[in-house]
Amino acid sequence: MNIAIIGAGNVGGALGANWAQKGHEVFFGMRDPKAEKVQSLLRAIGGKARAGSAAEAAASAGMIVLSTPWPAAEAAIRSMGNIKGKIILDATNPLARGPDGISLEIGHSISAGEKVQGWAAGASVFKTLNTTGFANMANPVFNGVKSVMFVAGDDAASKPKVMSLVGELGFEVIDAGPLRNARLLEAHAMLWIDLALARGQGREFAFSILRR
Ligand SMILES: NC(=O)c1ccc[n+]([C@@H]2O[C@H](COP(=O)([O-])OP(=O)(O)OC[C@H]3O[C@@H](n4cnc5c(N)ncnc54)[C@H](OP(=O)(O)O)[C@@H]3O)[C@@H](O)[C@H]2O)c1
Repeated sequence: MNIAIIGAGNVGGALGANWAQKGHEVFFGMRDPKAEKVQSLLRAIGGKARAGSAAEAAASAGMIVLSTPWPAAEAAIRSMGNIKGKIILDATNPLARGPDGISLEIGHSISAGEKVQGWAAGASVFKTLNTTGFANMANPVFNGVKSVMFVAGDDAASKPKVMSLVGELGFEVIDAGPLRNARLLEAHAMLWIDLALARGQGREFAFSILRR
């Protein structure tokens, strides 16, 4: 599959490398595709990845991952041009730094996922790939156990495709309901961030699902 990844930082780079390893074609949409850090990422990934503008990347792909910092999300969406009919996997978290450290800027009555849907009119937005650290997106399996990744979105026809693509990374994928549940997933992400950065868990842990 052709996958556009808008933003090739920690998250975009980890996802692009993992999907390229699984045989997908990855096109990073960047403000400066010729930048040395982008070129060195492409070299590290090898043959299956390229970089261009956000509009070129979005035009080439049916699935688009949004992995920019939250303050850049609206501009990044606008820079993609016509995205009608595209599927967007929104990995952003609406983080802000306040007096008590990092927290969510919004969340009770609206989420980043819903705001992204508002900016990306005509596209189908799914909230996913936001609830664990980037290193876990490179390798989601812990001692043989898959960590969990949730997918929330309203487009029921496209959801199986999105879940399957996320599952290829190595996650156990759970349907977390409609896009408004991005409010829950962004809060869940905040729990991971707080545990990782402020409660001594570090980045090498993830959540998984147990059943009986
Ligand atoms: N880090 C994590 O473990 C983690 C986990 C889950 C979710 N998230 C969320 O994922 C998002 C990305 O996090 P990150 O850690 O990967 O950030 P990052 O390392 O800072 O990378 C951000 C990327 O976005 C690009 N970018 C910035 N503005 C852009 C624009 N207008 N158009 C296109 N690209 C643009 C940057 O490129 P330039 O070189 O042009 O600045 C950079 O490649 C954030 O919303 C974060 O909350 C992060």
